[in-house]
Amino acid sequence: MDVLLIFVVTAAIFCLCKIRNLWKLNSTTKSSQIPLGSFGIWPFVGETIHFISSAYSDTPESFVDKRRRTYGKVFKSHLFGSRTIVSSDAEVNKIILQSDARTFIPSYPKSLMELMGKSSILVINGSLQRRIHGLIGSFFKSATLKSQITAEMERYVMESMGRWREDCPIYIQDEAKNIAFQVLAKALISLDPGIQMEMLKKYFQEFIAGLMSVPLNFPGTQLHRSLQAKRRMVKIIDGIIQEKRDCKGINEGITKDVVDALLNDKHEELTDELIAENMIDLMIPGEDSVPVLMTLAIKYLSDCPAAISQLTEENIKLKKVKEKLKEPFSWNDYVSSLPFTQTVITETLRMGNIITGVMRKAMKDVEIKGHLIPKGWCVFAYFRSVHLDDQLYDFPYHFNPWRWQDNNKEMSNGNFTPFGGGQRLCPGLDLARLEASIFLHHFVTQFRWEAEDDSIVNFPTVRMKRRMPVWIKRRRYS
Ligand code: HEM
Repeated sequence: MDVLLIFVVTAAIFCLCKIRNLWKLNSTTKSSQIPLGSFGIWPFVGETIHFISSAYSDTPESFVDKRRRTYGKVFKSHLFGSRTIVSSDAEVNKIILQSDARTFIPSYPKSLMELMGKSSILVINGSLQRRIHGLIGSFFKSATLKSQITAEMERYVMESMGRWREDCPIYIQDEAKNIAFQVLAKALISLDPGIQMEMLKKYFQEFIAGLMSVPLNFPGTQLHRSLQAKRRMVKIIDGIIQEKRDCKGINEGITKDVVDALLNDKHEELTDELIAENMIDLMIPGEDSVPVLMTLAIKYLSDCPAAISQLTEENIKLKKVKEKLKEPFSWNDYVSSLPFTQTVITETLRMGNIITGVMRKAMKDVEIKGHLIPKGWCVFAYFRSVHLDDQLYDFPYHFNPWRWQDNNKEMSNGNFTPFGGGQRLCPGLDLARLEASIFLHHFVTQFRWEAEDDSIVNFPTVRMKRRMPVWIKRRRYS
């Protein structure tokens, strides 16, 4: 009898909870509904395999496009082990990006979360995230850093391009990675090229290989190797932090790099471990996003002679003016005095979709534009489909830098978000544009080139299948 009573009471509580949950979901607003879609037929795996195989294919947007046609721009799916609302709607994405941690927190596949670690800026929330974001952002905006970085980037580009030969192909992707990693290692930890940098680069490549790996961590797995590589990198960076701490009295208040900016924080809450781990996360754009931006620009330009000729003309013109004035190029020259170069970079960001989108987890039931995102579900703000939407961009698959001339409308209304938005807007966006600008300037003013056939791979990260081989011919100036 007792057992029966317990069973009845438990069942009643269970039913009440269910009814309460259902009521809570429906109570967000009367009209809001979980978007249509499918969880696929496999538990846990859901539609992940379809998503990945489409991302690997020649038509990476086919997964989202097919569902957009069937269910609309916002649909439900089951990806990377989570029930997920995928949004390819610019307005919905804008609201997601602008929400704070009371509504959405970052959420990425398990291997990625494990490799980034709990204290990574990409994962933390609230006041700590805002503080680290602010410190990094202000450092990259400082005038000293701008002139230092411009001069260093120029030096690395000239050294690298100076070694290029005309009798063998130049692999743009490798060259760009090398340059961007050097720039970032200098900006982050004041590390100059040498043995330590080579070791860091080697460990970093092992680390990054695990970012989208199977989330199994035991000897022999990629995730295990990547975590070990991360530990070795933390050790190197920790050594650099200790040296800085030992010289604290001497270098008090001087901010030469991002580590200094974090060490000099007045709140002094930032542990060495947190700083070291974040330096590694900050190297990801150095090894990945920025070099891919440079490489894709060369790829798209190679197929668009009209853009090459306007870009070259603009850059040669400014080079001659600067030579006449005997002035070095400044950060501002690269970013403001080369308007067509900037449109080339913007169009590359739109078409290239280096970061396809961002993932968040709902902390409560959220309603956006009539779509209900239940608490605990993930939401994938998918930028790629917005950037390639023919209702927003004419001939979206056509590389057309001119579409950005006299038109910065898309930049502000959520239709163009290669650097995200809101509180997590990429603090390195000016640096990324600067690096791409310097690279393009020296490339087009020094060389004519012919590109070999190559194609873009979009998963797990964007890259060129054959590392973008080109044959160069040096320009002769009289
Ligand atoms: C083409 C190059 C780059 C692209 C496309 C890019 C894109 C992005 C995007 C989309 C986000 C938003 C992530 C989110 O909302 O969860 C982001 C965040 C971030 N980016 Fe970049 N980025 C680039 C270069 C850089 C560079 C050069 C740095 C500096 C070292 C950098 C540092 C960061 C940091 C620290 C965050 C995290 C901000 C936060 O969560 O508070 N990025 N980036």
